[in-house]
This record gives sequence, C-alpha cells and structure tokens, in this order.
Amino acid sequence: MPQKLVIGNWKLNGSLAANEALLKACGALAGVDRAVCVPFPYLAQAASLLGGMALGAQTVSEFQSGAYTGEVSAEMLAEMGCRYVIVGHSERRALFGEDDATVGRKAAAALRSGLVPIVCVGESLAEREAGRVMEVVGRQLGAVLEIIGAQGLSRSVIAYEPVWAIGSGRAASAEEAGEAHAAIRRWLAENGALAAEMRILYGGSVKADNAAALFAMPDVDGGLIGGAALSAQDFMAICRAAVANGAC
Ligand code: PGA
Repeated sequence: MPQKLVIGNWKLNGSLAANEALLKACGALAGVDRAVCVPFPYLAQAASLLGGMALGAQTVSEFQSGAYTGEVSAEMLAEMGCRYVIVGHSERRALFGEDDATVGRKAAAALRSGLVPIVCVGESLAEREAGRVMEVVGRQLGAVLEIIGAQGLSRSVIAYEPVWAIGSGRAASAEEAGEAHAAIRRWLAENGALAAEMRILYGGSVKADNAAALFAMPDVDGGLIGGAALSAQDFMAICRAAVANGAC
C-alpha cells in the first residue's frame, strides 16, 4: 500500500519572503508523501526549496496552447516541475464558474501532460442535510469519468472536501469523513476504477489537533490542507500525524 499523502493548498497566499521561510521550515520527513500546491508565479521558487516534497499547482487550463489570455497549460506546469494539479476545488466551482464538465476537461489536460489531477468533490451543507452527499459527489465524479474514463480516474487522486468544512474551522468528524470516503471508494469500484489502489484525501479544516483522528479512518488516505499549510509547524504536525497512521 502507498504511504499517506498530505498536500498543502496555499490558495491566494504567499510572498517570496514568506514562502522561503515556510518551505525552509518544513524539514525532511520519512513515511509520508508530501506536496505543496502554490500560486503560479511561485512555482520556480518553490521547486528550488521543496526539501523532498512534490510540487503542484492549484488549477490548470483545459487548453493546450493558443489564444487563451491568462491561462496556464498542463505542459507548462509539467515543465516547471509539477507532479500534481488541483482541479475542481469548490472555490473554483463557486467563484469562477467551473462546472462538472470543465473539471473533467482539466483533469484530462493534466493527465495528457503526465500530471496527477487532484479531483476535488464535495457537497454543500444544504445537500448534506438533505441526505444528498453521494448523489452530488457521484454526479461530480461521473462527469469526470465520462471524460477521462476509469483508467484516467485510476491515475488521479480524489479529494473529498465538504464545502461547509472548508475554511470554516468545522471539519467533518472522523466518522463523517470515513463514511463519505468509503462510499466514494465503492462508487469508484462500481465504475471500473482501481479503487483499492487510489488515494482519497480529506480536505476541510484539517488542523494539527484533528488530523490523527481523520487519518486513522481506513479510507482516509491523507489530506488536502488549506489554512494550516501556511504554518510550517502546523503542516509538519499534520504530516507527522499521517506518518503515525501508517500506510493507506
Ligand atoms: P482549509 O482548506 O484547510 O483551510 O479548510 C482546505 C482546502 O480548501 O483545500
């Protein structure tokens, strides 16, 4: 079984000075795979200060090249040393109009360039309260499956990020996360993906003090960390919790 995977999502944060301090303070750590997804302008800087972590970006263009002002292609990200790219983060869906099919096309672009897409899915609070978690997540995954197929999905990382837990300080409980992850793995298996080998990360208010309980759940293979990834101390504590909870 692979090691757990912990990925920092810096979102729209950072400066050359702050990034350098943060990355230098994240020392080497065995027993867990780690990555940081940084803003585009900082990819080169981060690439030089990774200390054993992998590099990722936070979004990618669905297009390969051409007249698409402002876009950044998967090939460019690969050239800068990226291994991962987040697609379909709920902030991109809610604030930048990315629909399910766009997310699928972005995942396809990532795979074409040899990147691993981190496909984000998750329900709103109203959807959870209405008992519609897997209806929503299944729709989001289904749209990606339609475009990249079960083979492509098998080469992706899935991040379950309930919208109500992101940046709210209210993480899903370990039981809520565990239940959703198990359901996602079942969905992946039923739809032809190599579900047992895939990593399903939890994201949404993961902190140093709740990481261990979340990572102890059998289907939680790591985390996608927002706010807490901006503190080396917190990020490292979360990574150590992943080490303590062993393989996926
Ligand atoms: P958070 O963000 O850890 O700040 O809740 C997680 C994410 O948006 O990926």
